[in-house]
Amino acid sequence: MINIPKGTKDVLPSESYKWQYAEERLRKVAKLYNAREIRTPTFEHTELFVRSIGDETDVVSKEMYTFEDKGGRSITLRPEGTASVARSYVENSLEAMSLPLKTYYIISAFRYERPQAGRLREFHQFGAEIYGATSPYLDYDCILFAYDALGALGLDNVKLRLNSIGCGECRRKYVEALRGYFAEHLGEMCPTCRERYGRNALRLLDCKTPSCREIAKNAPVILDYLCDDCRAHHEKLCGLLDKSGVPYEVDPGIVRGLDYYTRTVFEFVTDELGAQGTVLGGGRYDNLVASIGGKPTGCVGFAMGMERALMLMEKRGTDFGDTGIDAFVISQSPEHTEACMRIVAELRRAGVSADTETTGRSMKAQFKYADKQRAKFVVVVGADEFASGKMKIKRLSDGTEKECAAAELAARIKESI
Ligand code: HAM
Repeated sequence: MINIPKGTKDVLPSESYKWQYAEERLRKVAKLYNAREIRTPTFEHTELFVRSIGDETDVVSKEMYTFEDKGGRSITLRPEGTASVARSYVENSLEAMSLPLKTYYIISAFRYERPQAGRLREFHQFGAEIYGATSPYLDYDCILFAYDALGALGLDNVKLRLNSIGCGECRRKYVEALRGYFAEHLGEMCPTCRERYGRNALRLLDCKTPSCREIAKNAPVILDYLCDDCRAHHEKLCGLLDKSGVPYEVDPGIVRGLDYYTRTVFEFVTDELGAQGTVLGGGRYDNLVASIGGKPTGCVGFAMGMERALMLMEKRGTDFGDTGIDAFVISQSPEHTEACMRIVAELRRAGVSADTETTGRSMKAQFKYADKQRAKFVVVVGADEFASGKMKIKRLSDGTEKECAAAELAARIKESI
């Protein structure tokens, strides 16, 4: 037998309704926020991710699924959605549409990570990206969008952690301070951190090695190095959140694992999922569009991990509303199969989800099957029914029956649902 690759999962027919439930709700929230769906390819030129996410990040340096295609191009399965949407924005001149432009996506993404609960090699994200957005009102709008998206899944008590990592100017001063701090601890840090120290000291803050984490805890914090504009932006956003009543905490430890961020960064975290507690992450990225060939464009966005969100929903006993089919037509004898199939076809045309027996099983087996399909009603059909033109609709939950003319079957079932 050939098994599924490590770190991937099948969504089985018995589970897919949970995904559909979540996706449907998320699409509704997107509509409420005036966001339109964008679909980009599953793979892109490797260079896109290297340039936008940054070659010192774990995602680019360790986790990408990169391969050479038959034409000798270096191709990478997308490790996230932001870079691809930015590429599409530039390539399709979407700035010509009226700005701000709000987009959303539901995608699979790929990272070669060590799989564990809530961490997969193929995972899914619901994400949003807002273009043409320099004002803190759009950071605020984006955070409200994320908050309402979680709320739509019943996850309104996931905690919001907020930080600002400033602009290039603030970062230069901050990185200097970080270097000064880490210089004294380099001997105790992991080889990757020692390597990154000279090239991208900010990344030392999100190393997952426990000893490096311990050292990073006492590092200088970026909020102390913000320039006046970045500080004003951050304070305005905090003020808006204070007034809105969305609970949050400023956490200077949030730096995010991707290089494109500027100013606002945020995460929604829970302690109910063990080590993989970040359900949603996002922030502002004002330099990304220009760095891949577009005009300087203020942008802000977020992505929610669908597997993590679904795990939380399951833990909380969410009723995903799996309803089964409306009706199952039980055939008294295999000779009625074709007639039953015609009845079912009519029901379906009328908008009643229905099925019937096609494998010649006994009536007892058909009742069992109908029950497993969670059919709301069964209609038993045989010679008598065809002769009289009358049919009995039986509600499976309580056994009550109703008789109707064959021609009214769909209408009677619809009014009883
Ligand atoms: P990220 O923090 O790398 O940000 O990922 C966002 C979310 O995706 C995480 O909070 C987590 O829930 C989920 N996730 C990430 N990796 C995995 C994995 N291996 N297995 C399961 N779930 C995972 C981004 O991807 C940014 N593009 C977010 C963004 C959009 N920033 C601005 N716009």
